[in-house]
Amino acid sequence: MSKNILKVGVIGCGMVANIGHLPAYQNSPLAEVVAVADPLKAHLKKVQNKFNIPKGYEDANELIDDPNIDAVSICSPHWLHAEQAIRAAENGKHILCEKPIGLSLEEIDEMIKVVEKNDVIFQTATQKRFDLGNQYIKEGILKKEIGTIFQASVFWYHSMAQFLEEKPTKELIQEIGLWRLTDKRCGGGDLLDHGPHYFDLFRWWFGPVESVDARIRRIHETRVNEDHSLVILTFKEYDVIALFERSEAIVGDVYGDERGRIHGTQGNYTFSVQAEYKKKPMKIEKQIKDKKTYKLIKQNIFLSKDPMEQPYAREIRIFINQVLGGSNEDVDFPEEWIPTIYDGRSALEIVLASYESQRRNQRIQLPLENCKPLNW
Ligand SMILES: NC(=O)c1ccc[n+]([C@@H]2O[C@H](COP(=O)([O-])OP(=O)(O)OC[C@H]3O[C@@H](n4cnc5c(N)ncnc54)[C@H](O)[C@@H]3O)[C@@H](O)[C@H]2O)c1
Repeated sequence: MSKNILKVGVIGCGMVANIGHLPAYQNSPLAEVVAVADPLKAHLKKVQNKFNIPKGYEDANELIDDPNIDAVSICSPHWLHAEQAIRAAENGKHILCEKPIGLSLEEIDEMIKVVEKNDVIFQTATQKRFDLGNQYIKEGILKKEIGTIFQASVFWYHSMAQFLEEKPTKELIQEIGLWRLTDKRCGGGDLLDHGPHYFDLFRWWFGPVESVDARIRRIHETRVNEDHSLVILTFKEYDVIALFERSEAIVGDVYGDERGRIHGTQGNYTFSVQAEYKKKPMKIEKQIKDKKTYKLIKQNIFLSKDPMEQPYAREIRIFINQVLGGSNEDVDFPEEWIPTIYDGRSALEIVLASYESQRRNQRIQLPLENCKPLNW
């Protein structure tokens, strides 16, 4: 690390690298992206030109082995995360890894061993924790602002309903990351892709998960895995029921809809989240019953629109601070809330328990034992 500037390599030059990681590093005076890697030349060149990045590797291993790089952001497809993270940790590089951080608990346990042995920082890229709105709710839960919470429900979809039936070309599938729907190496479908975000948030808000009950479907047979899921969670320390409804099968707007409601004995929070690429703050309405008058007080919560205060920017500023050993005061986010490799493991455990619940038609208690893949 020269002059306290973090030298970063970004692995995978697709959607999340473009909308999340690269712009956030570029906006930091404390980091410099010195290299990117992607086997798809078109993506590699586009990103190098757009973000003015000197080195481009078609083989990610060469980036990981580059001694001039201090830290990596892993933004490749799911099945590559574990092997790339293990190699990076063995090379002493700090890691910000996209979710799901691995496909099985066994491979994540291997990652944990290597990360611990090499004493590198591993941050799981579940950036919803860094959304000011979700942090507002976390702080409200700690203060018991809406009383004792008994239910949290999230409904989130992206409409990919007719896409594969319309027979897109192989190039288009590659271009817009439709490997999610078509590539068996994914290890799971829509729930594996999106579940880790809210499973991580629910754990952050309500603590460790006790049980997982799920009903999962593959509505469109053109897909290799599930595209519609309902999951109910209960928690060990907090008597709240969390319902997660997630779909890529619903007909509607391709950018979808993402809403939630949290009910407590004294009030509730209702929120809606804008499509990620818009980088706009989420909307929260709070309703609280006044303890003396029993009047309902409604309040819209206004969150900062500053681009530096949006989730990816805060996530990456925290990662840079962690690696450089700086304080997090500029982001105003306590260290103990930063998502770790263990949080990434727990989020995957809930996804795998959901699959197991569907497979066995049973509620699954955690910790998860003996899980098998869902075969469609
Ligand atoms: N945190 C979030 O909100 C969020 C949002 C989107 C995606 N993601 C995660 O990020 C990862 C990438 O998703 P995406 O939407 O950017 O997909 P994408 O298809 O747009 O981008 C992935 C890129 O990785 C490249 N790639 C393929 N093999 C590679 C290899 N061996 N080494 C390096 N790069 C390789 C592809 O060519 C592609 O350019 C996924 O795991 C996904 O779950 C997270």
